[in-house]
Amino acid sequence: MQVVTTKPRVLSGIQPSGESMQLGNYLGAVRNWVSMQDGFDAFYCVVDLHAITVEPPAPEELRQRTRIVVAQLLAAGLDPQQCSLFVQSHLAEHPQLSWVLECITGFGEASRMTQFKDKSAKSGVERQGVGLFTYPILMAADILLYQTNFVPVGEDQRQHLELTRNLAQRFNQRYGDTFVVPEPYIPKEAAKILDLQDPSAKMSKSRGDAGTVYLSDDASTISKKIKRAVTDADGEVRYDLQAKPGLSNLMTIHAAFTNSTTEKVEAEFAGGGYGALKSAVADSVIAFAEPFARRTRELLEDPAELDRILALGAAKARTVAAETVRAAYSNVGFLAPASAPTAG
Ligand code: TRP
Repeated sequence: MQVVTTKPRVLSGIQPSGESMQLGNYLGAVRNWVSMQDGFDAFYCVVDLHAITVEPPAPEELRQRTRIVVAQLLAAGLDPQQCSLFVQSHLAEHPQLSWVLECITGFGEASRMTQFKDKSAKSGVERQGVGLFTYPILMAADILLYQTNFVPVGEDQRQHLELTRNLAQRFNQRYGDTFVVPEPYIPKEAAKILDLQDPSAKMSKSRGDAGTVYLSDDASTISKKIKRAVTDADGEVRYDLQAKPGLSNLMTIHAAFTNSTTEKVEAEFAGGGYGALKSAVADSVIAFAEPFARRTRELLEDPAELDRILALGAAKARTVAAETVRAAYSNVGFLAPASAPTAG
């Protein structure tokens, strides 16, 4: 199978991190993945190898989480014919390239990754697995394997992408042109969704359930979480991310689910109370989440079909990834394996 295309290539990854993706993942990332399927040669990877770097879930749990993310990505509108949707652990090329990249990464360079510093600070560096330390290098392999032009990621991944670019340039310089040097791609429409209980921070499962809307939440849970969202005391419906982050966040969510803008949302609700806005936000989220959850459940009921979709995605990914590993290994100077003599 040969993937022939002249469209710029994008690659992104998502962790199978729980029972469901949350609103922030969807509005901040996945929704853009869907719209990029058309104009780009798109590779989307469920990064299960990354998911065991901290507090690895029980094996059956990890398998189920992986199926759930895949089902949710499909429910969100990824089309396995149009993009390449695959699971990272299905391609041995990821750790194969990662090893070589580890060998050209400085220990100090890796030590400067702020996400590692943050995550390890909690329970102490000494207690972390080495996999958390090398996490960004595996991520670099994810990207460089596909000769990626653009990587749609949030601000929090910018430093990892900078490392990826440095590694690509260093490798190319040392061993000859091998990798495309990727650019970050932070689409204008990507909404940064804040935690409903602590709107100074990004919405994240790690900050607790009350501030996080899961796309699997039922209507009454969604409604409760939104109505309890932290706002402010001045009572004026006005979009102002600095002064009124909680309220502005709700306006962003509403605008996203009604294909509107925060200006229009402001015009519509100005003069009304926060209660009316919150009810409308809850309705717009539920109108999306209900059919989304139904479609996800249908997909999960047919694991054989999910397997087929992932086999197709892995096959498409492998045509590109295997060629990159072959070139990288050859440029490093690894002796090419000869094919075994045929038996008989
Ligand atoms: N580190 C990314 C995150 O936490 C996930 C990820 C892994 C990724 N590999 C990637 C993102 C490659 C973009 C490209 O969100």
